[in-house]
Amino acid sequence: MITKESHAEKLRIRRSSRVTRWLAAGLAAMAVAWATPTATAQPTSDAPIMLTIQSDKAGPIINRNIFGQFAEHLGTGIYDGVWVGPGSKIPNVRGIRKDVVAALKALRVPNVRWPGGCFADEYHWRDGVGPQSKRVSRVNTNWGGVPESNAFGAHEFFDFLEQIDSEAFLSLNVGSGTVREAAEWMEYLTGDADSTLGRERAANGHKHPYKVAYLGLGNESWACGGGMSAAFYVDQMKLYSRFVHNFNPSQSGEAAMLRVAVGPEGDDMRYTEAVMEAWKNRNWAWGIEALSIHFYTNNGWPPSYHSTDFGEREYAELLNHTRHMDTMLRANEAVMDRYDPEKKVALIVDEWGVWLAPLPDTDPGFLAQQVSQRDAIVAAMNINIFARHADRVRGANIAQMINVLQAMILTDGPRMALTPTYHVFRMYTPFQDAAFVPVAIDAGIYSYGDIKLPRVDVLAARDKQGGLWLALINIDPTRPATVRVAGNFQAADGEVLNAERVNAINTIAEPNAVRPRPYSAKPRDGLLELELPPAALTVVRIS
Ligand code: AHR
Repeated sequence: MITKESHAEKLRIRRSSRVTRWLAAGLAAMAVAWATPTATAQPTSDAPIMLTIQSDKAGPIINRNIFGQFAEHLGTGIYDGVWVGPGSKIPNVRGIRKDVVAALKALRVPNVRWPGGCFADEYHWRDGVGPQSKRVSRVNTNWGGVPESNAFGAHEFFDFLEQIDSEAFLSLNVGSGTVREAAEWMEYLTGDADSTLGRERAANGHKHPYKVAYLGLGNESWACGGGMSAAFYVDQMKLYSRFVHNFNPSQSGEAAMLRVAVGPEGDDMRYTEAVMEAWKNRNWAWGIEALSIHFYTNNGWPPSYHSTDFGEREYAELLNHTRHMDTMLRANEAVMDRYDPEKKVALIVDEWGVWLAPLPDTDPGFLAQQVSQRDAIVAAMNINIFARHADRVRGANIAQMINVLQAMILTDGPRMALTPTYHVFRMYTPFQDAAFVPVAIDAGIYSYGDIKLPRVDVLAARDKQGGLWLALINIDPTRPATVRVAGNFQAADGEVLNAERVNAINTIAEPNAVRPRPYSAKPRDGLLELELPPAALTVVRIS
């Protein structure tokens, strides 16, 4: 049996090698910080900030899949968070919580990555299909050493997806499974009801093949996924790519499943190089369509920053660290561009978010943390970064959906609270599949000690109906910002998410402490003028 202590130690070892790199990376991030469009070398000022929207220039589509979620068998992310069982007093449909489903539907979640994470490389799909009474219990060795009942298996996962109207991103067990096991799982899920395994699926309650939109060929195979060298991983990846087939007839052509290879370990680019070189030299027998990248915002490893007990220093440090996402994307894109200048292989950030110290009195292996207004700002900054890389970044999955790390939803028995990050995702729904529109802004600087960040970060996009949308982040936690929009715009209408304190949170007892409020702005002296509160996200449609 794995104790909490040995688990925490395992995590510490797994992460410690990354600390030095992340510290170095933070410095590197500062060095490149001023290369982004929102940065300037000017001193801070309260003068209005001019924003020019180059609305005649349409950029790439902001793929809605960057708003994906990640749901691992970890802590109470699945059990209690999604699954309560059909016999529960908590209102549910076939065991799946009704309140959570209703909340997630409003986010228009494009895809959910499951069953892990590290968990995936020890997951055996047959444990989770067939009658509930026959499901075998295992030990969740990665996360707390607790029993894994397997009550939530593939059918329950796809039922959940159907209820929230989303698509599947499955992570295969490449670490402790076999190619044959993975191939049979896919035949079971996607095969025709006349095939042997498709017939078994039908007998278990689902006649029609499921759709698998993404297939992860391993997870962090350089660490929890098996500690593989890049060369060894590439050989494994080819086998899984070659022999694990999707038989769903509706998934041909444009709707084809994307196979996602494991990408870099932090700033170590050996996996990116090896996978992309192999892809360039591929033959007919195998292929991949995407490369995964993981990056968590934290203060080093193990994360020690508290979810709620923090001041402006921790606020500024975490925002500064999150900008390293841009550096990592650039570094990986540079390698990918060498092998794939046409950008056929997508980059998918299938784990990202704020990783903080575990809440007191919780199992450290459950990764339970609160989610504050600061974390909402971090989420918005990352979404803006992904959108600026829309030509290559065509998917992302925040870690994790419920009760784990930077969650959208916190549950406690029959009750739930939506976090500020949930509200960020809902406010950004107009950006799903909208066209990126370049902007020019001289935002000034927010500085704290040695940390210097662009004070206002702006994303503009045009939706399919022609509507022009802005997402504006006032990063400064102490001063409002005034933004004046060049051009003949007459109105801005939308919502603003701010709070009196950056460590404000929603709890079960007080679920609406942080929530978006309606926002509108009008021209002043001929120009549309937006007042942005401190540490706030403002999303508006302008006309
Ligand atoms: O999200 C928690 C864990 O972080 C995932 O299981 C793993 O892939 C990553 O290290």
